[in-house]
Amino acid sequence: MKKILLVFGTRPEAIKMCPMAQALRTDSRFQPIVCVTAQHRQMLDQILDLFAIKPEYDLNLMLPGQTLAGLTSRIIDSVTPVLKEVRPDAILVQGDTTTTFASALAAFYENVPIGHLEAGLRTGDIRAPFPEEMNRVLTTRIASWHFAATPRNRETLLAEGVPSENVFVTGNSVIDALLQVRDRIQRGECSSETAALMARFQKPYILVTGHRRESFGTGFESICQAIRALAVKHPELDVVYPVHLNPNVQEPVRRILSGLPNVQLIEPLSYEPFVALMCRSKFILTDSGGVQEEAPSLGKPVLVMRDKTERQEGLNGGVRLVGTDAARILSESEKLIADADHYRRMAEAINPYGDGQTCSRIADLLAQKLGA
Ligand code: UD1
Ligand code: UDP
Repeated sequence: MKKILLVFGTRPEAIKMCPMAQALRTDSRFQPIVCVTAQHRQMLDQILDLFAIKPEYDLNLMLPGQTLAGLTSRIIDSVTPVLKEVRPDAILVQGDTTTTFASALAAFYENVPIGHLEAGLRTGDIRAPFPEEMNRVLTTRIASWHFAATPRNRETLLAEGVPSENVFVTGNSVIDALLQVRDRIQRGECSSETAALMARFQKPYILVTGHRRESFGTGFESICQAIRALAVKHPELDVVYPVHLNPNVQEPVRRILSGLPNVQLIEPLSYEPFVALMCRSKFILTDSGGVQEEAPSLGKPVLVMRDKTERQEGLNGGVRLVGTDAARILSESEKLIADADHYRRMAEAINPYGDGQTCSRIADLLAQKLGA
């Protein structure tokens, strides 16, 4: 049995790595060991609970208002002893967070091969998203095996000189997570939290999420002003916004959007209630990477409040890039509200990011590479 150490720390990594841990747990070729940095605490725990994953190692590293430098050094320092103790045959990391890059670097220093899920995403601008674009580039340089979600992501890696025998198109494991959870909701097997939320939001609503570091300051203020204007102009609609726990998000959101009768600011949700909310929403305003990947599978149009996206496959289908300018966010939202044909074209788009079989594909590739 090959020992695989899965390291992750934030909400989106957990959503995309828990199905991977589940797949390895039921596969006799592997002994998976889960180590969480807990770069996020509450938002990580919500996901671990939902997927019933109990980490073998919990480094509990989150500090309120943590800095990139402090977090990076604490992760390298704390993951290294785990690598020394477990002596895994390989480590898996996912995506582009500080946990992703710092854990990969720690593994590189310990000579442990690295498998990178969601490899090959690029905007080409190292400042957007910040610092994620650089985390992606650096993780690519030190990873051994690159699990790309789409053919385009694979081409990007080949153009950077990554050897083709180590780059695989597997889909994105977010779709494994999404379909598992959506099917549970459709079978009526959802939690009481999800049922209560569905009962609470009966009126048609627009769903909002936002947290990107490069938008902090004027960009984020402008996003909030757009949402405010939309809510005031459309009292027939609710805006439901689970607010990310980052203090740089909480402050402007609560200052600009509190007190409006049709804006519901709520705590971050566990994944099952959030998927249920996406399923029932009219459309979604977001800057999230994961939501851009999920929404087309649910037939929900998405307006991405960023200037650049590394997820080009969805553009001109179910996803539109609208930037952070308030007037543009408002006008694109109103077009979706008023123009039924435009809405239908976006809602009918096909999902380019996966079929729900990504984790079993990655398990087979790992078995080949490791001779399991
Ligand atoms: C991080 C990732 C980003 C990812 C995002 C997903 C980095 C540099 N950023 O950004 O790539 O898209 O997560 O959400 O890796 N906090 C809590 N509880 C939580 C989570 C966060 O209180 O459960 C607060 C803390 O004060 C923490 C702060 O948010 O210090 C920032 O968290 P951090 O992970 O550093 O940055 P994010 O903006 O969440
Ligand atoms: N999500 C969630 N609860 C919420 C908001 C988002 O479970 O209240 C999920 C969402 O479905 C997606 C992921 O969290 O899978 C996205 O995380 P986030 O936006 O924090 O990070 P990003 O995807 O931008 O890296």
